[in-house]
Order: sequence, then structure tokens, then C-alpha cells
Amino acid sequence: MTAVTLEAPPPGLHTRNPLGALPAMRRDPLQLFESLAREHGSVAAFRLGPQPAVMVSGPEAVREVLVSRADDFDKGDIQRRAFTPALRNGLLIVEGDLHRVQRKLLVPHFQARRISNYVDIFAREAQRHADRLDDGSEVDLLAVMGGITRDVIGHLLWSRSLAEEAELAAAVTRVFEWEMRALFALVPVPLGIPTPANRQMNGDLRWVRGRIQAIIDERRAAGGEYNDLLDALLQARYDDGSAMSDDQLLDELITLWGAAHETSADAQFWTAALLATHPQVRDAVAAEADRVLGDRLPTADDLGRLPLAMAAFKEAMRLYPPAASLMREAVRDTTLGGYRIRKGTIVFISTYSMHRDPALYPAPELFDPERFLAGVDENGRPAAAPAERNGFGYLPFGAGRHVCIGSTLALTEGQVFTAVLARRLSFDLIDDGPVEPQLLINLRPRGTVRATVSRRVPARSENVA
Ligand code: HEM
Repeated sequence: MTAVTLEAPPPGLHTRNPLGALPAMRRDPLQLFESLAREHGSVAAFRLGPQPAVMVSGPEAVREVLVSRADDFDKGDIQRRAFTPALRNGLLIVEGDLHRVQRKLLVPHFQARRISNYVDIFAREAQRHADRLDDGSEVDLLAVMGGITRDVIGHLLWSRSLAEEAELAAAVTRVFEWEMRALFALVPVPLGIPTPANRQMNGDLRWVRGRIQAIIDERRAAGGEYNDLLDALLQARYDDGSAMSDDQLLDELITLWGAAHETSADAQFWTAALLATHPQVRDAVAAEADRVLGDRLPTADDLGRLPLAMAAFKEAMRLYPPAASLMREAVRDTTLGGYRIRKGTIVFISTYSMHRDPALYPAPELFDPERFLAGVDENGRPAAAPAERNGFGYLPFGAGRHVCIGSTLALTEGQVFTAVLARRLSFDLIDDGPVEPQLLINLRPRGTVRATVSRRVPARSENVA
């Protein structure tokens, strides 16, 4: 007997327009997801032209996509088309056995124990950039945050500032821009077709791989020990004792760069913008940093004593998750939230909508880092912070087999930047009106956000004589 599926399709936007929600998606995907969630609930169907799609924004359904039914979904053709030319077999885009094997090899190098080694890089770079900003100067806030995170990623990857590798950084930026256009293209143009953009991309890819290979070769020739990811990956061994091929190593280094840089810059931007518009929180973060650090830079031992800096960073990622939408494609007929999902349906997980659900976060529009501060229960025992009890309802780093490998590193970086910057300076936004987010690959501000810099004279620590 043939199996009969009784599940109904999800509720959603049913329109006769052959383009479906494509114009709305191109105009403002966040708005589209918000209105789908509001009007149709946490699993809502729509079409992008002939392509069936579903928006998912409830913790239970998200858990199904990423964990309990993860075998029914993969990264999908759209993401593969956009990301495979640059990342090739990098962790972010591959699936199956290769993903499992690479993940096992890489994960140990991102554990908290190893990351404490990087705290001084985060602190030093944040301070160096902060010290270059003059009192009263006007800056592009995203560019400032992008500058710090770019230098940090250079030191993390191979102990070199990317300022020394300006040509490489520029070529990689062009590669990421090509990816973004490919992700949103109405009619994808295969990379093999020699349009001017594709010719540039192919040239950039060849050049970038050649330059990174040269960095690897230089490192092998120089020998010695380095406190960076290149060193860690060169020493990493599979179960059979063998090392990664140079091709795979290149794929992982480019993937780490791509995954780490933009997301961190955006998270840091939103944190700074929210602190600029919430002076009370900003002053409290600065006071915490003054009290704990005095005149010195943070070390790994200070991390547990800067809870407000961490909470402010986490709360900023709740309101503005850099990865505001995760994409998957159904590889077979399946269900989500009890609704029928056909093979080939594109799934957009809207963490942005989920993080603003009033059922999970009272007064969701409010920037309130206290949601992420641990407290005590009625018996005086330590209790998890309210927002940390939401489980799958807070997902800035995704979940399941592709969950961010750099999440501890990113959180530590965010906490250290927030504390160091708050001690040295404060920003005030120049233009009135709210800063509007726009969803590109990550969640960025719409337009340039300008800020005035005020240098602070930090108060001395209670611990300093
Ligand atoms: C605030 C900063 C960051 C955010 C918000 C973020 C977010 C994410 C998210 C949501 C995913 C899952 C994507 C998906 O399921 O489709 C992911 C994957 C990944 N992230 Fe991050 N990330 C950040 C920083 C970093 C850093 C610093 C690194 C490494 C140095 C990193 C490396 C990766 C890698 C390699 C993957 C792919 C993992 C896999 O597919 O198995 N990320 N990130």
C-alpha cells in the first residue's frame, strides 16, 4: 500500500502573481519575514517565482530543521552556487562524510581552553584602533568596527595584520561581494560564462589562493611555534595520523575568514550603535570595565568579571543577529510543525523574527542586557539568565551539525571589544532617527551610520592602589 500523507501545507501567502513574494523579498526580506510571522505563525509558506519557500521562526520548528529532521534538509543549490566557487570544500558549505570528518578535525582548536590564548589579541587590537580615534572626530561606525575585526582575523589566522596584506584583503572583499550578488541573483550566471564580473572573480580567486598558499609555504619554511589558526591546522591530524592536504587547508582558511570577519564586524557595529543610543547602559558597561581593569588590558582571567559587557553583546545579537536568516532546502518530502513540506522547498529560518517574539522576550524591542545576566532563584541558588532559558529561541550561532564553530571565540571577542572600547571612548550617533537594518548575507545597517567620538578618562580600578 502506498503511504498517504495527511499533513496540510503550511498557511501563508497565496497569490496569483507569478512572481509570488519575490518583489517583497528583494525589497526587504526582514519585513517579509516579520509580516509572515505576524500573519501566519511560525511556519509560513510563500513562493519566490515558481520556487516554493517557507519561513520558520518558532523554536520548535527551528529545532526540527536543524536537529531532529536535519537529514531532510541541506544547504541547498542557491547557497552552493554562491559559496562553492570560493569555499570549495570548506566546512560551511560541505555536507555528509566530508563535513563530519573536517568538523571533528577542526572543533578541538576552537575550544574555550585554546581561545583564552587569543584574548590579548582582541584586547590589543581594540585598544590600538581606539587610540587612533581623535576626540570629537566623526567616523563611519561600521567601518571602524570592520577595521578592528579585520585586523583581529589576520592575527588569528596567521599572526599578521591584514594591513600588511592590503591587496589580499581587497581581493577577498571582492570575492565576498560576488558571493552576495550570486546569492540574490534573479537569473544566476554560472561562473564559467566570461562576464566581466565572472572574469574578475576567477582572477581574484586564483590570486587569493596563490597568495594564501605562499603564506602557508612561508610558515612551513620558517618553522617555529605560533599562537594562530594556521599553526593549529598545520598540526591537526585525522584519526589515521595524516594531515590536511594543502587544498583542504586553503578551503578551510578562506572559509574561516569569510565566516568570521563580516559576522563579527556586524555584531560589534550593532553593539556600539545600541550603546550609543542607551547612555545608561553604556555608562554601566564602562563603569564595570573601569572597576575590573583599571589601567590594564583584560586577560582570560577577567572574562568572568565582565558579565555586563558580555550581556550587552549578547543582547545586541538578539535584536540584530548577524546571521538573521539561515537557509536550507528540503532534500525529500517531510514535515515541519506538522505541516507538509515538499522536496525542493527553500527554508528560511528567521532568527531575526524569532528573537523579537514577545512570547519569548517580554518587551522585545527594548535593548535590555539584563536579560542575559545570571541571577539567583527564590532559594538563593545561582539561576540562568532569563534569555538563556529560551533554548532554541536564541540562535545567533545556529544549531545542530553546522552550528558556528567559532561561537566561543566570537563571544569572547565581542565581550573584550565591548569592555575595552567602553573604557577608552564613547560614540554618539550623528543622524537622528532609528538605524534601519538590512539583510544582505548578514544583517547590516542601511546606509552609512556616522558617529562622533568622545574620548573617556577611565576611572581607576578599585583594585589599583
Ligand atoms: C558574532 C560572530 C559570529 C556569528 C554571529 C556567527 C554565526 C554563525 C552561524 C549562524 C553559523 C551557522 C550557519 C548555518 O547553519 O547555515 C556559523 C557557522 C560557522 N561559523 Fe560562525 N559566526 C560568528 C563568528 C565566527 C568566527 C569568529 C569563526 C571562526 C574563526 C566562525 C566560523 C564559522 C564556521 C567555520 C562555520 C561553519 C560551521 C559548519 O558548517 O560546520 N564564525 N556561524
